Amino acid sequence: MEERKTVLSIRNLSVSFSQYERGFHQKDLLAIKDLSLDVKEGEMVAVVGSSGSGKSLLAHSVLGILPYNGTWTGEISYYGEVLTEKRMKELRGKEMVLVPQSVSYLDPLMKTGPQIRKGKKDEKSRKKSLEVLKRYGLDPSTEHLYPFELSGGMTRRILISTAIMEQPRLVIADEPTPGLHIDIAKRVLSHFREMADEGAGVLLITHDLELALEAADRIVVFYAGTNVEEALVSDFQEESRLRHPYTRTLYRAMPDHGFFAEPGTQPYAGNRPAGCPYAPRCGDVQEQCLKEVGYRSFRGGMVRCIKAGGEAG
Ligand SMILES: Nc1ncnc2c1ncn2[C@@H]1O[C@H](COP(=O)(O)OP(=O)(O)OP(=O)(O)O)[C@@H](O)[C@H]1O
Ligand SMILES: [Mg+2]
Repeated sequence: MEERKTVLSIRNLSVSFSQYERGFHQKDLLAIKDLSLDVKEGEMVAVVGSSGSGKSLLAHSVLGILPYNGTWTGEISYYGEVLTEKRMKELRGKEMVLVPQSVSYLDPLMKTGPQIRKGKKDEKSRKKSLEVLKRYGLDPSTEHLYPFELSGGMTRRILISTAIMEQPRLVIADEPTPGLHIDIAKRVLSHFREMADEGAGVLLITHDLELALEAADRIVVFYAGTNVEEALVSDFQEESRLRHPYTRTLYRAMPDHGFFAEPGTQPYAGNRPAGCPYAPRCGDVQEQCLKEVGYRSFRGGMVRCIKAGGEAG
């Protein structure tokens, strides 16, 4: 079988923010710590994690659009080429596209049609943009509307349309489905799936584990700014196949598995404990968990837990 090329490779990504506390005292907030993941051609990888776990920051790092007070370290490569901020800018919106989480990425003063077509005026682009609108159940006249005239769900569909007008090789979709009717949400995901089947690499960022399991190939679980597990979709058929205790709580929280809500919350980046970030909630904490825990291969996936596979691994 032909080896699939790796579209996106992220190694040991950390993102921090400089913040000023009480006057001139500067403090660094480590929002993402030691994150690694790959997306191959033809593959849809879903990143799942609760609010504040660093999902959008991951997307923004790859595209070179972190906020001004943010800096990153580590290595981000696209088809084997280590990316600089300059190169990210060149690829952005063309080969690498983002479906942003926030509607503030639309220009409030520009009608949606020209935004989708990125200013292109030729007949082919117009035809394609109308096809894209139709695909997501939007009337052709939507192209004449300004962003303030759109409902939340319409806006989300416009954001998706804007990203897929080109033929990207890497699509990063940051929460593309909230606010959408389930049928449209499924249509959106099946469209991303199609893009992957045609050879693109797709990174889907979502809270919705159930939807992710329907469309993706692999699931990467985020917790407090890092990844704790990488699993195949098929691993979610049985709780015992999952590698990290946090992933198992996500499994038990699914409607089909009892809707169990785990007590406690994910620590805020500024209060992340030393060692395993999940240790304060874990029922099986050992002394070693309070030291740095590495991310390692385990049973066809990845895990950041000393307990997976028996004692310290
Ligand atoms: N400009 C910034 N300055 C300081 N901290 C920031 C900044 N932007 C994000 N953060 C912090 O980084 C962490 C991760 O944020 P991020 O937006 O990536 O979360 P997320 O997983 O996308 O959450 P959600 O699911 O709510 O979209 C949060 O704790 C957030 O407060
Ligand atoms: Mg986000």
